Amino acid sequence: MKKVTKAVFPAAGMGTRFLPATKANPKEMLPIVDKPLIQYAAEEAAAAGITDLIFIIGRTKRAIADHFDKAYELEVELETRGKLQALEDLRNMLPVNISYIYIRQAEALGLGHAVLCAQPAINDEPFAVLLADDLIDGKPGVTKQMCEMYNYYQCSLVGVQNVAPEETASYGIVAAEPMAPRLSRITQIVEKPAPAVAPSTLGVVGRYVLTPRIFHHLRRIERGAGGELQLTDAIADLLKEQQVLAYEFDGKRYDCGTKLGYLEATVEYALQHPEVSGEFLAYLERRFCLPCRPEPT
Ligand code: G1P
Repeated sequence: MKKVTKAVFPAAGMGTRFLPATKANPKEMLPIVDKPLIQYAAEEAAAAGITDLIFIIGRTKRAIADHFDKAYELEVELETRGKLQALEDLRNMLPVNISYIYIRQAEALGLGHAVLCAQPAINDEPFAVLLADDLIDGKPGVTKQMCEMYNYYQCSLVGVQNVAPEETASYGIVAAEPMAPRLSRITQIVEKPAPAVAPSTLGVVGRYVLTPRIFHHLRRIERGAGGELQLTDAIADLLKEQQVLAYEFDGKRYDCGTKLGYLEATVEYALQHPEVSGEFLAYLERRFCLPCRPEPT
């Protein structure tokens, strides 16, 4: 049985919703408190036992490769200034024994095309896909939850959650038959359907575990919603020959591809951050004249 040891991080999008912040910087490098979105996703994958992180990057995305690289000058500087804790934190930023692979996607042709670009690094193995702008606070992380499901069921899985009926046009939407707690068998998957034609309100959020057969279909799909090569369309074709499961993950998801979701994540992660949580909570209470702490029982 082949375990999932590879993960793809599509990161070649334009990030237009966050301009001008994303003019020269990738949206995946936007920080939530003090860590960029892409690092949360990389840590989630590493915690699932994934050892090969494959980043699909585009123009302006060099910062991602720099971020995961050793920063010699910075380390020397921190050491000279005696900032030893900061130095230690920097060195321990990510677990050891991880390989970082960068593949350039010359044209932003869509998520399906981005995943197809990873094929040379994956070959004939199952793999995870993480969209870093879907930040998911899960314990254990959602990728670990899904890899465990994969080990058991040995088929492709997509992470789903219920979305507001008026928001179906922002998601891949599935129709599925219940099978086990949190799991259902997908019978249909459509990219960004209008509410009137959506088969349900079960939306795909940015976590997938896929069998390598997906590449066969990715090579054959045509441009779909938004004129892009859609991963959803390849999954719809995969469904015709292999079972694909929808997994209602355990965790809170923040849509950091939108300003509002990004701000919500910032507040929630700040309230959990060991360095700033206390003072930040006190600030919120002062600012809104509200006790934000739960009432003692
Ligand atoms: C992508 C996928 C879509 C999925 C969404 C989750 O869309 O194409 O199926 O529901 O991510 O965030 P995007 O948000 O990149 O337009």
